[in-house]
Amino acid sequence: MSHSRVAESLTVKKPVRHDQQGKIAGLAVVVMAAGLGKRMRSKQAKILHQVAGQKMVLYSVRLGLRVAGDRVAIVVGHQADLVRQAIVRATSEKSGGSPVAIVEQREQLGTGHAVLQSRPVFAAGKRGSPSRYLILNGDTPLLQESTVRELLRVHEVERATVTVLTAVLADASGYGRVVRRRSAERGVLRIVEDRDADAEERAIHEVNVGTYVVDGEFLFSALDKLNPSNAQGEYYLTEMIHLAVQQGRRVAAVVLDDPNEGLGINTRRQLAEAEQLMRQRIRNRWLDAGVTMIDPTSVWVDATVTIGKDSVLYPNVTLEGTTVIGEDCVLRSYTRLTNCTVGNGVEILDHCVCADSYIEDDARLGPFAHLRPGVVVRKKAKVGNFVEMKKTDLGEGSKANHLSYLGDTTIGKGVNIGAGTITCNYDGLRKYQTVIGDGVFLGSDTQLIAPVTVGAGAIIAAGTTVTEDVPADALVIGRVPQVNRAGWAARRRALQTGVNHKTVQVKRTTKSTGLTRKSAAIVKSNQTKTQE
Ligand code: UD1
Ligand code: CA
Repeated sequence: MSHSRVAESLTVKKPVRHDQQGKIAGLAVVVMAAGLGKRMRSKQAKILHQVAGQKMVLYSVRLGLRVAGDRVAIVVGHQADLVRQAIVRATSEKSGGSPVAIVEQREQLGTGHAVLQSRPVFAAGKRGSPSRYLILNGDTPLLQESTVRELLRVHEVERATVTVLTAVLADASGYGRVVRRRSAERGVLRIVEDRDADAEERAIHEVNVGTYVVDGEFLFSALDKLNPSNAQGEYYLTEMIHLAVQQGRRVAAVVLDDPNEGLGINTRRQLAEAEQLMRQRIRNRWLDAGVTMIDPTSVWVDATVTIGKDSVLYPNVTLEGTTVIGEDCVLRSYTRLTNCTVGNGVEILDHCVCADSYIEDDARLGPFAHLRPGVVVRKKAKVGNFVEMKKTDLGEGSKANHLSYLGDTTIGKGVNIGAGTITCNYDGLRKYQTVIGDGVFLGSDTQLIAPVTVGAGAIIAAGTTVTEDVPADALVIGRVPQVNRAGWAARRRALQTGVNHKTVQVKRTTKSTGLTRKSAAIVKSNQTKTQE
């Protein structure tokens, strides 16, 4: 357990009731996410900034869903539409709809006022009012589920009205300070905000993390009594603690063992700090799960990525978004995968950039492959260096090993895509499809002018421009027939020597080679070109 209890415990332990999925009966969650976050100096609402590839607010929202099921309310305000969209998109279930309730705080009058906005969501319905509320700041992404469960447990055991999560920091500036009684028990008396604190209070190192468990029957009646007579003229949620103490109710506290968990992000520096901590936590999680990282600190894995056992990540690999990596994969350096699904036993060599694509079992990619959205690389298929693909399905065992562009294309099984093959899928206005059947052999430097279909088993000779559909098993050659002129090159060299020495000679020799004067000049300029 990564925290110690400060309030003394009672001998009777009353366990918190969990259902099978770990949801706690009678619990509701309120996430505060309406503030702009002035100290970020950003056009974007603070809680939309990302930590390890996930919008900050979603950490609190997902944590809420894990402990309270569908009884989660999120208070939005600044850029409400964007925040709502982000939350709905991230939490929508397959059956459609998001299980969270989103309420708007039109004016940001403080954290107490923010929580008050959620009252209608939990007004007694069929299920009755929640017996407890878990309140989370939207800017505390490092907070762990185990800590929240411990907070809930202590709240029960202590029979507290309010239980607050605290951390002891070397530099407590900016945070609300926890003022405790001078008695031996050192119970929490109140929380004083940084801007309202006197010198003595500012010297306190114990801070309020912004995570609370509050009894249902107390919360909203206390919020009704808040008074905005403070330095910021706001309704402070923290004032409920003093109100509880004044009413002779019990306030308990849990102190974080690892204060980093309580890091509240108010500035870009804190955002950078949270990013580092989160990345480290994610790497450790996958190392513990059986993933090898040759140089862990250089590997970047987003919070939403999963990696299978015995996969190996070389230095400087970046895995983003909803990427899923199977087992026994090898990912070499400087490869970046965004929202990709990778099967088992896949080898991706250095410097590949892939997005929104599927790579099936035992496929091999790179080095320097570029998969743009909509690519499927089927089992045992190979994509080699300098191959760009987009909206293309490369069939099982097929190979595109060198220097190609394949766009809007369906490729069957066992196909060989020769070096330098280009699908000409765009006429400047619209995109067209190319279909290549099973077992087709495309020679090098083939151009396929889409829309076009190449039947199964066909062979396309190197250098062909395919403009019409090709029947199955046909041979296609689309090139200017080759002409060999015996001795021509030697004669030109002789001619050229003449040109360089005496212009008069050119006229004479021109006749003897049978070339016009104009073509002799072209020959000359071509000669210069090939020498460049
Ligand atoms: C708050 C606490 C402080 C604690 C710190 C921990 C209060 C009064 N202070 O301060 O004791 O140490 O968190 O990080 O609660 N929000 C709204 N509506 C508002 C104001 C804020 O939804 O009107 C949201 C913000 O979007 C944010 C959260 O509440 O997610 C906290 O707000 P913030 O302004 O960051 O509070 P702090 O000053 O950090
Ligand atoms: Ca904050």
